[in-house]
Amino acid sequence: MAEKTLHTKICDLLGIKYPVFLAGMGAIPGMPRTGKYYTGTSPELVAAVSNAGGFGVFGAAVVPPEGIEEEVAKIRSLTSKPFGVDLMFPAVVDQKTQDEISKTKESLPTTQKEFYIFANRMREKYGLPKVKAPDYFYNTWDPAYVRKQFDAALEAKAPVAICSGVGTSKWAVDRIHEAGKLSVSLIGNTRQAKRVAEMGTDIVVAQGTEAGGHTGRIGTLTLVPQVVDCVSPIPVVAAGGIGDGRTLAAVLALGAVGAWVGTAFLISSESSFTDAQKERLLRANEEGARITTMFTGKTCRAQRNPIAEEWERMGFKSLGMPLQSFLVADMIASIEKAGKPELCFLPSGQVVGMLKGVRPAREILEDMVQGAVNILKQDALNIPAGVV
Ligand SMILES: Cc1cc2nc3c(=O)[nH]c(=O)nc-3n(C[C@H](O)[C@H](O)[C@H](O)COP(=O)(O)O)c2cc1C
Repeated sequence: MAEKTLHTKICDLLGIKYPVFLAGMGAIPGMPRTGKYYTGTSPELVAAVSNAGGFGVFGAAVVPPEGIEEEVAKIRSLTSKPFGVDLMFPAVVDQKTQDEISKTKESLPTTQKEFYIFANRMREKYGLPKVKAPDYFYNTWDPAYVRKQFDAALEAKAPVAICSGVGTSKWAVDRIHEAGKLSVSLIGNTRQAKRVAEMGTDIVVAQGTEAGGHTGRIGTLTLVPQVVDCVSPIPVVAAGGIGDGRTLAAVLALGAVGAWVGTAFLISSESSFTDAQKERLLRANEEGARITTMFTGKTCRAQRNPIAEEWERMGFKSLGMPLQSFLVADMIASIEKAGKPELCFLPSGQVVGMLKGVRPAREILEDMVQGAVNILKQDALNIPAGVV
């Protein structure tokens, strides 16, 4: 990489060279995976981003506690640079007991008959096998299990930050600090930003609606400056739609001190996604990443999916998180068993339309940084010299 560099205060806080994060991307069963556990961020990808000077984050939302320990050790064996772990703390984990969650889950076949008729019709239409989702489909909604995942991430000495994409809890922020680590919270509006700031989080990730995965309603362009203003002096990292030097320079201009990049790294050589899924992303354009609530109960941006589209046409309403995930669990398990990538849940952002090809993560990151440097130094600004 050329000698030009891009340095913000987040680089000093985390001890990294470039203000570019690999977003902690989890994966749910039924999503493609090439490794042992469901995650979009293989240990190889996390290490590659950190080794290239960015900050790799391991998406551990559905990785079991013993898997977190194993994968963190693997990342540590591949890099001596800083990295983080991302988990989910949905509010339901604080509000409900496992007993309450199980009771509502058991009532689904009686209360949601219409959905089961629909699921049978989809099975026949797409030739899917009848499959019962294994227990681990439900684990991430068990409050005791989530706390065990959290303990595993905290006890692993290596990660310097614990990130949370779905919900942040005060008890978690406090324990992260007691362990001498940094807390990173992902939010989608200023109300959530103020909430996590009051809890004492160290870094706020402001994620615009363009993003892949669970996402809110506000675009990155308008969200980032408003969040910067309302949580200052807490550093804000921008997420949603960042995939090259132009978009990286843009979010720095909005006041962000770094970029949290998900979809653009999914097509890296090291990502956990299969070749078929990477090709599907490379063929897609910006219209292909649509919001659906069918898979998880929350608004989630993913590649167009024929089953989700029929579900919406039928006028079904999401049961919310986690009940909607329970409802679709058997259907997702059967899609996974059928091995039909076009029917798989594939979260990805609107940035897919500008992704060029499968490349090593280092190359993606270095291009992004170099492109931003050129723009910020005005070499590549679309403004004639002397005008400003
Ligand atoms: C496949 C996929 C899985 C994701 N899983 C998680 C997750 O488990 N936790 C989380 O905090 N964010 C998750 N996200 C959101 C990312 O952290 C990030 O905010 C988003 O990808 C940024 O937008 P971009 O996709 O336009 O780069 C996921 C995104 C994708 C595409």
